[in-house]
Amino acid sequence: MDAQINGLTLAYTDEGKGMPVVFVHGFPLNRNMWAPQVQALSRQHRVITVDLRGHGESDAPLWRYTMEQFADDLTGVLDHLSIQQAVMAGLSMGGYILFAFYRKYANRVNALILSDTRAQPDTDEGRAGRFNMAQSAYTQGSGAIADVMLSKLLCPASLHTRPELVQQVRGMITAMTLGGIAGDLMGMADRPDSVPLLRTIACPTLIIVGELDLATPPSDARLMSEQIPGAQLKIIPGAAHLPNLEQPEAFNDAVRSFLASIA
Ligand code: MLT
Repeated sequence: MDAQINGLTLAYTDEGKGMPVVFVHGFPLNRNMWAPQVQALSRQHRVITVDLRGHGESDAPLWRYTMEQFADDLTGVLDHLSIQQAVMAGLSMGGYILFAFYRKYANRVNALILSDTRAQPDTDEGRAGRFNMAQSAYTQGSGAIADVMLSKLLCPASLHTRPELVQQVRGMITAMTLGGIAGDLMGMADRPDSVPLLRTIACPTLIIVGELDLATPPSDARLMSEQIPGAQLKIIPGAAHLPNLEQPEAFNDAVRSFLASIA
């Protein structure tokens, strides 16, 4: 399905009935990364996944993106679906977006699930890396981004023994347009420090991280869980930056029990 939001066509999936749970994907992926969650959780909940601008089947305007603008797009999807409040779940860049979302639309958030993300802004070195990645995308295309990103997203065991998973993730990355890749990179480089926000988060919060995540390691997850009042932390063994795809049962169990605890 799709909707006209903020002058763009945004694609989304809306499955099941019950408490709405919105899943926000990471960079440089799309809503298909949530397929195991849609399948498992839509039996009990209303599960919504959205292709952010620049991703999947949504429009990919050529311009600088911001985390706040992604948050505005998500609010547009909630309005389109007449959902006043939802559990908002984001992985990595999806988490950066949820910090912007909470800053502006806390009244729309029933609970937060923050997976493999961090509250700190980019370091100068991190920003320089974004610039270099945008240049690689510009000169060599999205295949070069897939080559760099795969080993950040998946743990060595997934890379070596799960060719279909590797192919699925590669396919999402190579489907990205240059506008989408560069827009995300500029948006992430410019995102503000969300550490001061953590203490003010007043909704139930679950933090999940892959034990082997090197991009946003368990130490980043611990920082969030120590500063967000009452937050729960779940570390998933045998997964790196995409525990929802690498260990879907463990990820879904964590989400399911969290949702049951707030229902
Ligand atoms: C993501 O998975 O969204 C990215 O790895 C986040 C980032 O590059 O900071």
